[in-house]
Amino acid sequence: MNDLQGRRIVLGVTGGIAAYKACELARLIGKAGADVDVVMTEAATHFVAPLTFQALTGRPVHVSLWETDQANGMAHIDLVRGAAAVLIAPATADFIAKLAHGFADDLLSSLCLARECPLLVAPAMNRQMWAHPATQRNVAQLRNDGVEILGPASGEQACGEMGEGRMLEAEELCDALIAHLQPKLLAGKRVVLTAGPTHEPLDPVRVLTNMSSGKMGFALARACAEAGASVTLVAGPVCLPTPAGVTRIDVRSAFEMRDAVLAALPTDIFVSVAAVADYRPAAPATHKIKKGAERLTLELVANPDILAEIAARPDAPLCVGFAAESQNLAEYAEAKRRAKKLPLIVGNLVQDGLGGETNQITLFDAAGSHPLPAGDKLTLARAIVRHIAEMIHA
Ligand code: CTP
Repeated sequence: MNDLQGRRIVLGVTGGIAAYKACELARLIGKAGADVDVVMTEAATHFVAPLTFQALTGRPVHVSLWETDQANGMAHIDLVRGAAAVLIAPATADFIAKLAHGFADDLLSSLCLARECPLLVAPAMNRQMWAHPATQRNVAQLRNDGVEILGPASGEQACGEMGEGRMLEAEELCDALIAHLQPKLLAGKRVVLTAGPTHEPLDPVRVLTNMSSGKMGFALARACAEAGASVTLVAGPVCLPTPAGVTRIDVRSAFEMRDAVLAALPTDIFVSVAAVADYRPAAPATHKIKKGAERLTLELVANPDILAEIAARPDAPLCVGFAAESQNLAEYAEAKRRAKKLPLIVGNLVQDGLGGETNQITLFDAAGSHPLPAGDKLTLARAIVRHIAEMIHA
């Protein structure tokens, strides 16, 4: 995906062992479409050679404040003018201290002072160094100054100790950078979403379910969080990682999903992406059902319709439904929108089953239908967020 197309990112690398992960990070940021200018501290060059970054980014790597190839000798200014963001990964305790106090005694610290663009910092250090009051003071100062601190994570450290201080993985950092640069269309809004299938128990080891992968709901949760919303995702049984910044509540049955959604209210926006089972076994067996008769008849009873219930509340949030249809998309989706009194429903024609990485969807609202170009689920999710934002701000 070209999430950073046309952007230039300054990647600052300081002298910690996690510098080796910055190589992968430079590659990922470049793969997302950005031009990557790597600026290393002198200490960082003891861990990774500048040539490695040069080969990965296809651009010169900068280390010294005293580079003479810059016509005006102003590398610290020229490198940040027009950059979309500066990301420092890894950021050592020493470098964080310099940033917090506004030192400018090398190229990277100087350009951090000279920048007008956002600064993101990914700390990486031993757990004691991270927990030290001096480091914590410096980090708090940076937060106060509007710097976004990414991580650190907890786990095994290069020194063999366990604890907080590990740098986030390259993919997490690249995602955080992309998220930071998304327009904050839902800033200050609360969003509750449901995603995935539900499991309706038949007996202690068997369930009734469907083929929903949860991918569209998780992509939407991520897009809402990137847009600055505070997001609660009520997820049916799926094996998907929780998007950054999203509060996740795992549930199994439609009833559990309904309870979790009600507990998450009030909200400004409710997006019901889950493929909630319409029916559940009337009387789940206490013990495993044994094989026996040639025919077995199951009695099913209707589940609560979570979306209809939320949309019918006097304090109803802006409710968005989903309609996956195998035929007559416009007719069925619009009928569902009217029946549940929804301002917006997202319709998709299910041709190749569920669970793919891409989708083709049409939005239906009071103004009519709005087909979106086919795309990957995150791109579509961001387009849906733009539409929701227009509706909520209208
Ligand atoms: N929905 C819900 N609770 C249910 C069933 C559906 O919240 N018990 C929500 C889905 O999350 C989706 C929308 O309602 O946003 C789908 O509407 P619905 O008419 O229930 O769709 P289907 O279940 O697909 O209906 P049908 O099987 O009749 O096509």
